[in-house]
Amino acid sequence: MAKLSPSILSADFANLARDVKVIVDAGSDMVHVDVMDGHFVPNISIGVPVVKSLRQATDAFLDVHLMISQPEKYIEAFAKAGSDLINVHYEAEGDMDAMIDKIHALGKKAALTIKPATPADVLFPYLPKLDMVLVMSVEPGFGGQSFMPDSLDKVKALRAEIDRLGVKCEIEIDGGVNLQNAPEIIAAGTDILVAGSAVFNAEDVPARVAAFKAL
Ligand code: DX5
Ligand code: ZN
Repeated sequence: MAKLSPSILSADFANLARDVKVIVDAGSDMVHVDVMDGHFVPNISIGVPVVKSLRQATDAFLDVHLMISQPEKYIEAFAKAGSDLINVHYEAEGDMDAMIDKIHALGKKAALTIKPATPADVLFPYLPKLDMVLVMSVEPGFGGQSFMPDSLDKVKALRAEIDRLGVKCEIEIDGGVNLQNAPEIIAAGTDILVAGSAVFNAEDVPARVAAFKAL
């Protein structure tokens, strides 16, 4: 059974605590928080104060996806705000090894993400020290886009290398995931599904979470 990390990018930000409670009570494994700076991606979303407020509103695991330039400047603030996992883009400037070490030193789980144009093997050297890798299956910046099927080859390559090394790094996928394509995504070796619009735009959100968890 794959884990589910609904993206709050598609939630109602004026009722965020309510929406997060709904998905957590329905059985979501984590809460995916999309942080966008209008520079690394062409959109602005939310930042440290929202993570801090979420931390007070829920005990759920906060899976924080930083789509920002110069992430090392903000890692400590996101950690102190209550993130459980901090996820940095490989394409962002900075020393990836140093950032992973910094996240771990702050007592948090560390992840690296690749955009659709970045090959999976750039992540191979980091797998032994990472808790998770994220394969973006859309161009980061917006919810509600269509899943890019090429991303499945990257999941398969990462799965093979993680198994070959015998390390415990999990694989997450993010962008355009829905109930129809999820079985194939899980079969490719994905551990964690991110879904924004497919969860929050459902008529019955708890039933949709349950349907994902039943796959
Ligand atoms: C895209 C974000 C995703 C997005 C997923 O930049 O990282 O988490 O919100 O939304 P859907 O599931 O609607 O593609
Ligand atoms: Zn995301």
